[in-house]
Amino acid sequence: MNETRRDEARLSQEHLLGLEHYTAEDLELILQTATHFRAVLERPIKKVPTLRGITVVNLFFENSTRTRISFEMAEKRLSCDTVNFSAGSSSTQKGETLRDTAANIEAMKIDAVVMRHSCPGAPGFLARNLDSVILNAGDGAHEHPTQALLDMLSIRDRHPDFQGLRVTLCGDILHSRVALSNIYGLQRMGAVVGVCGPPTLIPRGIAELGVRVYHRIEEAIEESDVLNVLRIQLERHTAHHFPGLREYHERFGLTRARLEQHAPEGMTVMHPGPINRGVEISSDVADSEYSIILDQVTNGVAVRMAVLYLLLGAKTVEAS
Ligand code: CP
Repeated sequence: MNETRRDEARLSQEHLLGLEHYTAEDLELILQTATHFRAVLERPIKKVPTLRGITVVNLFFENSTRTRISFEMAEKRLSCDTVNFSAGSSSTQKGETLRDTAANIEAMKIDAVVMRHSCPGAPGFLARNLDSVILNAGDGAHEHPTQALLDMLSIRDRHPDFQGLRVTLCGDILHSRVALSNIYGLQRMGAVVGVCGPPTLIPRGIAELGVRVYHRIEEAIEESDVLNVLRIQLERHTAHHFPGLREYHERFGLTRARLEQHAPEGMTVMHPGPINRGVEISSDVADSEYSIILDQVTNGVAVRMAVLYLLLGAKTVEAS
C-alpha cells in the first residue's frame, strides 16, 4: 500500500474491540483491504514491509489454534516484530493482575496488543488502561470481531451482495462470541440474520437485535442462503442445556440428508472451528461442496493483515 492510500484509509475506531461500533464504511474498507492482502499472500514472496518497526504482543489467556497462528502470521507477513504471551507460563500464575501484566509488557515499548480472554470486556479494559492499540481476538461470550470479518469476506466470495442475503447462525448461540460479531457486522452490511438452536441455547431478548429466531433446523435451512454452524461449547456450559450430544445431533445437527431435502440452490455452509464432527455438523457436510470452512481459515490471515494495517499503519507514517 502506498502512502497516499494509507492517508486516505482510516477507520472510525482506534481499537478493534468488537464490531458493534464499526460503520458500514469501516467494514467495507476492511474487506477491500483484506482482498488486497489476499493477493499479496498468493505471491511467491508473501511478505511486505508495511508495518516494519511496529511491535505486537499476542496476549492469549485462552487456547486457540486458528486465531493465534493467523494473527502471528499476519504480523510476520506485514514485517512486524511479534512476541507471544502464554498465560500458563507467565507470572499471572503467581497472582499478577491483568492490569499489571499488561502495563509491564507495555513498558517494553510495544505498539499493539492482540488479546484473547475468557472474560467479556477484558480487551476494553486494556484499551482504557494502556496507550497501545488493542485488538480483540475473542472475549468470553461477547465478541470475536476478526472471526466475523473473515466470515464476511468468505461469504462475499460466494454471494457478492450482502443486501437481503439470509445468513443464519446455528447452534450454541448462548455461549458464542462469533454470533454477536456476525450479527453486528452482517446487519450493518444489509444482510438478514437469523439464529437457530434449542430455546435453551438462544439468549433471551436476542430478537430485539432484529434477528430471526428458529427452533427447527429444517426451517432455518429452507429460509437461508448461508448457514454458519457454531460449536457446542461444552466447556462453557454451567447447566444441562439439552439431554445429550446424540440427541442434539438428531434434532439440530447439519446433515447431508437435511441439506438435500431443504437447502435452496447455492447454499453455503460455514463453521468457525474447531468442529465437533458428528455433533453440530456431520463430516460429510463439513467436507462437502457446500462447505467453505478452510476458505474461512485462509481468509483469516488476510483479514488480520487488513485490521493490523488499518489500525497501525498511521503509526509508521508518524514515526517516519
Ligand atoms: N475460530 C476460532 O476462534 O478458532 P480458535 O479458537 O482455534 O482460534
